[in-house]
Amino acid sequence: METTRVLTGITTTGTPHLGNFVGAIRPAIAASKRSDVDAYLFLADYHALIKCGDPALVAQSSREIAATWLALGLDPKQANFYRQSDIPEITELCWILTCNAAKGLMNRAHAYKAAVHANEQANEDPDFGITMGLFSYPVLMAADILIFNAHEVPVGRDQIQHVEMARDIAQRFNHNFADIFTLPTAVVDDNVSVLQGLDGRKMSKSYNNTIPLFGSEKQLKKGINKIKTNLLEPGEPKDPEDSTVFQIWCAFADDNERQVMQQAFIDGIAWGEAKKQLFERVNDELAPARQRYDQLIAEPADIEAILQEGAQRLRPKSSELLARVRHAVGLRPYA
Ligand code: TRP
Repeated sequence: METTRVLTGITTTGTPHLGNFVGAIRPAIAASKRSDVDAYLFLADYHALIKCGDPALVAQSSREIAATWLALGLDPKQANFYRQSDIPEITELCWILTCNAAKGLMNRAHAYKAAVHANEQANEDPDFGITMGLFSYPVLMAADILIFNAHEVPVGRDQIQHVEMARDIAQRFNHNFADIFTLPTAVVDDNVSVLQGLDGRKMSKSYNNTIPLFGSEKQLKKGINKIKTNLLEPGEPKDPEDSTVFQIWCAFADDNERQVMQQAFIDGIAWGEAKKQLFERVNDELAPARQRYDQLIAEPADIEAILQEGAQRLRPKSSELLARVRHAVGLRPYA
């Protein structure tokens, strides 16, 4: 069967929350199990260095995110699961692509432009705090994608431009040197669920309204209790469509459970009771994974071994591609 190479990176910063699970992790793991897909899921730890300068935090975040994906059912036999920094061919390719990528193209990257704009607003030098890493971020991302000649790159809307830049860079290389790279396509899932956070806005680290995925049971309960509701009393009908409690319920419940809760809202379920049921439902779903997560975090050598194996399996491919790229640009043995 023809398989499609589907590749996506996870920047290893921050602590995963329920919104990451529903919007990104769960659908990506499901996709990795499809037999017509050759999945590449990697920890973008070089990208983390752009956002975070605290070595202890970089190390901890990478470990936690790896454990999260494995605990939630990512099967390293079904998907290529690896760490960007374990595949040195990615950074080698990155330099060669850097020499071939137009600076003008990078000037147009949204993330870079936003940083310059923020400086201008603050009356700072436009370059203040901007590293070459931030500026070149899209080239590293292009190397991630092109090293395995991915066909499809599932991303959020904010990353479409980066995938298009990778395509641009690939096209230019193919034209100037040799037809080596597959032109990747960004895939944005419009049905992807955006979970609401404590305040009803999109659950996001930048809004500080998240519920952590693998905190303790107590922390989960506390988080759910903090979800903003209105002042309607028990017995007063409540509008499910207008409720974060109901919205999160739907992300975890099946059709039948959805209908039952909808009716309970119409019948005036008390907020305390609705939250109690939500906690139990989410906790039931996450408890087995939480246990696996705790085990993995306690035995990081197991995660390390899985990632080493992932890299070992892939490096023949990345080396083969890089050898062709080096030859194409003229880095060749003399004899
Ligand atoms: N930049 C992406 C993000 O922040 C993560 C990422 C790095 C990525 N390399 C990638 C995504 C390659 C897709 C393909 O979300």
